[in-house]
Amino acid sequence: MKALILCGGMGSRLWPVTLSIQKQLIPIANKPILFYIIDSLVEANIVDIGILSNQKEEIFNRALSFYEKREKIKYTYIDQDKPIGLANAVVSARGFIGDEKFIMILGDNIYQFSLKKFLDKFNSEKVNCSILLKEVENPSQFGVADVLNGKIVDLVEKPKNPPTNLAITGIYAFDSNIFKACENIKPSWRGEYEITDAIKWLLDNNYSVTYDILEGEWKDLGGPEDILKENMNKLIDIENNVSGEIISTNITGKIVLGKDSKIINSIIRGPVSIGDGVMIQNSYIGPYTSLGNNVSISNCQIENSIILDESNISNIDSIIDSSIVEKGSVIKKSTQLRKVNSFLLAKNSLVIVD
Ligand code: G1P
Repeated sequence: MKALILCGGMGSRLWPVTLSIQKQLIPIANKPILFYIIDSLVEANIVDIGILSNQKEEIFNRALSFYEKREKIKYTYIDQDKPIGLANAVVSARGFIGDEKFIMILGDNIYQFSLKKFLDKFNSEKVNCSILLKEVENPSQFGVADVLNGKIVDLVEKPKNPPTNLAITGIYAFDSNIFKACENIKPSWRGEYEITDAIKWLLDNNYSVTYDILEGEWKDLGGPEDILKENMNKLIDIENNVSGEIISTNITGKIVLGKDSKIINSIIRGPVSIGDGVMIQNSYIGPYTSLGNNVSISNCQIENSIILDESNISNIDSIIDSSIVEKGSVIKKSTQLRKVNSFLLAKNSLVIVD
C-alpha cells in the first residue's frame, strides 16, 4: 500500500512565514508537522510515500532527505500543476499510485490515531473507500457525512445546515476506483474539484464507502493560533532530555536541550524544547516555547512561541509572546539615541509593538 500526503495550498493564513517555508514543514515542538504524519505511516508499515505539492520542491527534498536516511522511506515528489482541489490532486498522483490501494492524508492534519487499525479494517472489508469521521462542534467548516444505521448515506462539502456533526477528516483510504470518480465530477461553488464530491460519486454509483470514527485528537492546522496551540499540546508530552550545558540557571518543568547548546544565567520554565547549538544568556524562556537549531537569545523574555533556526533575539524589554519567527530573523533593540522602531518586513508581516 502507498501513501499520498497532500501538501499543496498557499498557507496564506500564515504569511509571511509560509512564503519561505511550506506550512507542512513548520516545526511543532521542533519537529515538522509533516514528520508526525510520516511517523504514523511508518508505524503502519507504509514506507512508499508520495508528497504532492504545488511549490518549493527543493525545500521538501532538503527536509525529507534528512528523514529518509533515518527511516529508509522511499519518497516521490509529485507536482500539482494548479491548486484546484483535492480531487484534482488525486488525479495528479495517478502515475505514482498506479493501480494500488492507497491512504491519502492532508499534510496539515495532526491526529492521535492508529492508521494501522484503520487500514487493516479497510483491507479486510474489501471496500472501495473508507473515510475517517470526527465529531466536531463546527461541522459547517468541513465536509460532513450523513450516517444512518452505521452506513454513509450522503456527503456534503461545507454544508450550511449540516445533517450531522461528523466532519470528514483529512484521512482517506481508496482503491483505484477513486480516479474514475475524480474524473467524473464538476468543480464546486468554490471552484475546486472536491474529494467529498468524488466520494459521493462512488456512493451514488454503488461502490462501497465505509467509515471509522476518529476518537483521539484531530486538528486541521490553519493559522498561527492553531500552530501555537499544537506546539503547546506537543510540548506537554515531551520527556526531559538534556545534552547541552546549563550554567547558573534555574530550571522548572520539562526541558529538551540539544547538543552543543548552552544556557547561562537564565530562568527556564518548561515545557520547552531547545534545539542544537543554541545560546541563551540572561534570559527567561517560559512555557510552551520551541527554539530551533543555532538560535541565539540574550537579555529577553520569551513565552509560548516558536523561534526557527538561526534566529537571533537580543535586548528586548517586553515579553515576546505567542510569536512565530521564521529562520534567520533578527529582533534587537535600537541603538539610536531617539526611541525608534525599525522594520524590514516581508509581505503580510504582522508586528505588534508595546
Ligand atoms: C478539506 C476537505 C473537507 C475536509 C477538510 C479536513 O477542506 O475538502 O472535506 O473536511 O479538508 O481538514 P479544506 O481544508 O480544503 O477547506
